[in-house]
Amino acid sequence: MIIGFFDSGIGGVTVLKRALELTPDAEYIYYADTKNVPYGVKEKHEVMNCVSEAFNFLANKGIGLAVIACNTATSVAVAELRKRYTFPIIGMEPAIKPAITSNSGKRILVLATSLTLRESKLEELISSLDKTQRIRKLALDELVMRAERFDFDSDKVVHYIKNKLSGIDFNEYETIVLGCTHFIYYSKIIQETAGRHISVIDGNEGTARNMLRVIKEKISAPDINYRKGQITFYSSGVEDPPERINKLLAILKPEKG
Ligand code: DGL
Repeated sequence: MIIGFFDSGIGGVTVLKRALELTPDAEYIYYADTKNVPYGVKEKHEVMNCVSEAFNFLANKGIGLAVIACNTATSVAVAELRKRYTFPIIGMEPAIKPAITSNSGKRILVLATSLTLRESKLEELISSLDKTQRIRKLALDELVMRAERFDFDSDKVVHYIKNKLSGIDFNEYETIVLGCTHFIYYSKIIQETAGRHISVIDGNEGTARNMLRVIKEKISAPDINYRKGQITFYSSGVEDPPERINKLLAILKPEKG
């Protein structure tokens, strides 16, 4: 069985990294929809069409499990995709629940794309959990294309983040939720800008653990291809060239220590 990872671009690589740590021997496909990124500033139906095309491709590759390593695509498409395909599909949503349970009562800032933030899925999650209305939402759409250009720390991107967060009094806050996988590349800058007292959380760990649980529960051992973490990378249906693969592998490289 091949595990198909999907994102609009390179954000999901951060989720794949954690998945590889938990399930290093499986065989993976990583599909980035680079022709259509960014999703977060598109209309819902446009994103649905893009995700449909990508899943068509992944299904034809014979995947046995899919991980939508993208909050935006999950919010728009996961319910429909689960109706279409028989293989398990794991989605991601901003980690509101862990933010609320680990928080002592101060405010929570949710950073995501514009589309994720205006989707009913998030609204429903917030209204079911945030009884005291502590949550503030903020879109940082520009970070998506910055990450796509592998611009993780230029002066421009630091300035963008600082400027976007400048109107917020972080003394009132305790948690920041990174609700877009592309934002993970900027967690250090966001942390430094907000202050050390803020805990910056994301859904990567939960998603990778969810994947592991589904593999154990739903997939029988002989179905799993133990191919030592073999990954094939595609960009919108075309296999990636070596230069891009090397950049992605550099992100996936385990950190020392
Ligand atoms: N990585 C995606 C997410 O987690 C969004 C990126 C985009 O706007 O395409 O929401």
